[in-house]
Amino acid sequence: MKTVTTVAGVREWRHAQAGDVGLVPTMGALHEGHLSLVKRAREQNARVAVSIFVNPRQFGPKEDLARYPRDIDRDRSLLTQGGCDLLFLPLAEEMYPAGCETFVDVGSVAAPLEGERRPGHFRGVATVVLKLLGIFEPTGVYFGQKDAQQLAVIRRMAADLDLAAEIVACPTVRESDGLAMSSRNAYLSSDERAVAPALYRALIAARDRFATGERQGDELRRTMRQVLAAEPLLHVDYVSVADPRSMQELRTVTDRALLSLAVRIGNTRLIDNIVVGV
Ligand code: PAJ
Repeated sequence: MKTVTTVAGVREWRHAQAGDVGLVPTMGALHEGHLSLVKRAREQNARVAVSIFVNPRQFGPKEDLARYPRDIDRDRSLLTQGGCDLLFLPLAEEMYPAGCETFVDVGSVAAPLEGERRPGHFRGVATVVLKLLGIFEPTGVYFGQKDAQQLAVIRRMAADLDLAAEIVACPTVRESDGLAMSSRNAYLSSDERAVAPALYRALIAARDRFATGERQGDELRRTMRQVLAAEPLLHVDYVSVADPRSMQELRTVTDRALLSLAVRIGNTRLIDNIVVGV
């Protein structure tokens, strides 16, 4: 695996590749979820590139930018084993040199849920992803369903800005007890970790009610809240039953719905989701 730290280095590599190139954007502290995207990209492209960049523009002033987990040696060996061809590891000054002032102004899909709790977050995500698409000119770019609203924001941007890359969504990879893999799981103490599977249990409880015919958004939200309320260490930020593309809350589910939630356990904020319906 080749490692480059500059935009010019990526372009040089890219222009030497004849076949399809898949890009997996990440912030590092890699786990099986990230590696599943690499695997999918590997299956669909002649070459696979991964970026590791803890993007300061998508963190709020009170968020965890400074303590975000970093372990580049481990990441590098996982990516080598996973069949990555190129690792892009830029410094912030490389991505945002002095005078860099352009942002992507994301629309209504970025407004509710994570967008409401994390002002500026999706603007930062969309901007860095658009830059990575410009730098790599990949055939396909791979994202996890784990961050469902991020995926919806990227799809909206790709459609609105006529981006050529195929946006590929990959299923959420979970621990054996259902907890969605996340770099932020490393923040959890053992007591907190024991509580964390409640997120998935809440989603499954709502999915079970959907399966037996419940279509009222409020009822499905209430089911999720009930499961979460049984855990005193856990504080609910939101539960949502929304349209998976627009992210607007649904009064009644007619076809598909994104069931999603965000909670705090101690100082750690966790999100999860599943899609129900046809
Ligand atoms: P990061 O949180 O590192 O995630 C990188 C990619 O891995 C995202 O597409 C995310 O949805 C996916 N992912 C994370 N956990 C997953 C899991 N358990 N199963 C499947 N996929 C999973 O998301 C970001 O970084 C950043 O916002 C980024 C897109 C890189 C822009 O900075």
